[in-house]
Amino acid sequence: MKILVTGGAGYIGSHTLILLIESGYEVVVFDNFCNASKESIKRVEKLVHQSIEVIEGDIRSRANLQEVFDKHKIDAVIHFAGLKAVGESVAQPLKYYDNNVNGTAVLCEVMAKNNCKTIIFSSSATVYGDPATTPILEDFPLSATNPYGRSKLMVEEILRDLYVSDNEWRVVLLRYFNPVGAHESGTIGEDPNGIPNNLMPFIAQTAVGKREILSVFGDDYETIDGTGVRDYIHVVDLAQGHVNALDRVVNFKEPMTINLGTGQGYSVLEMIQSFEKASGKKVPYQIAPRRAGDIATCFADPTYAKEVLGWEAKKGIDEMCADSWRWQSNNPNGYRGLI
Ligand code: NAD
Ligand code: WQD
Repeated sequence: MKILVTGGAGYIGSHTLILLIESGYEVVVFDNFCNASKESIKRVEKLVHQSIEVIEGDIRSRANLQEVFDKHKIDAVIHFAGLKAVGESVAQPLKYYDNNVNGTAVLCEVMAKNNCKTIIFSSSATVYGDPATTPILEDFPLSATNPYGRSKLMVEEILRDLYVSDNEWRVVLLRYFNPVGAHESGTIGEDPNGIPNNLMPFIAQTAVGKREILSVFGDDYETIDGTGVRDYIHVVDLAQGHVNALDRVVNFKEPMTINLGTGQGYSVLEMIQSFEKASGKKVPYQIAPRRAGDIATCFADPTYAKEVLGWEAKKGIDEMCADSWRWQSNNPNGYRGLI
């Protein structure tokens, strides 16, 4: 089976390519490299000992996408391509609606035209807004607190509508919790542009000496130690969830919405402590005010993923931190090399 992986050069996409290839799938990557480096694909090629077909293009371009379908008989699409910076989405909402929502609509249109009607979509736990209770089940109320989150909600609805219009569509909506970690080789990983928004890359860059001090956003939440609690999930476990979804998707007779999380929450201070243990480095931090829009606690109930995908996360917090550190310490400047 040949799988089109949009956004395949990015953080989660690059890790998923490895597992797809190891599971016997053929892959074609489609990426405009707006938030990725071609080096990530080169490194994946080394890890899997084969070359990977990459088509550079934008999901908003019908012509770019048609080029893929003219060249390849695509059986299914794993759709990672999208913008993901929450703060930027507040400042530039139209950019997010155009890229994430319009981009997905164009992708689906071209897929349908070419009779490819299977899509696995990267949704996010952000669609639960500020949940009344945890752990979070898939049928919890949905809401969004920023344009990024709204773009994910809108795409979920668009994909459900598509199925209603044509039952031949196979749709899987995977709601990721907080992806962290890196491939155990330490050669691919998360490579944020500029100052990281997310906790794990900020911790890793502080440990390696690229950042002076980590700001812990709030220590007065109603949590174990007052800092925010999240469900961190190893990116390789997350990648495996996509392979399991693909293996089973033909049998899914209606759109499937599935949490991909571990079911375990850790606080910011617990993450710092685990990272220090894994890296042997100090992570200097200071308590700062709460970050606007943050919630106290967010973690998944992953029972449904186990039931319908036969999937559960296997890697714990020690491995997440050790693998993030291996990537960060081997590649202090990410894919840009030792500048
Ligand atoms: P990423 O930025 O590393 O990867 C996204 C990829 O998509 C990049 O390679 C980028 O160049 C590409 N891309 C963006 N817009 C494109 C366009 N218009 N045309 C073609 N390519 C385009 O992000 P990631 O962390 O790998 O996330 C992958 C997906 O998972 C995203 O849709 C993201 O919203 C979603 N997600 C991520 C997280 C997270 O915390 N990393 C959590 C939940 C959901
Ligand atoms: C985790 C915890 C922060 C940075 C975001 C998006 C979400 C999803 C994943 C895509 C929180 C605290 C963070 C720092 C800190 N992405 N923190 N200092 O906010 O749970 O989720 O990424 O879908 O949509 O909103 O992740 O890693 O930013 O924060 O104290 O420098 O770490 O307050 O408690 P978040 P995060």
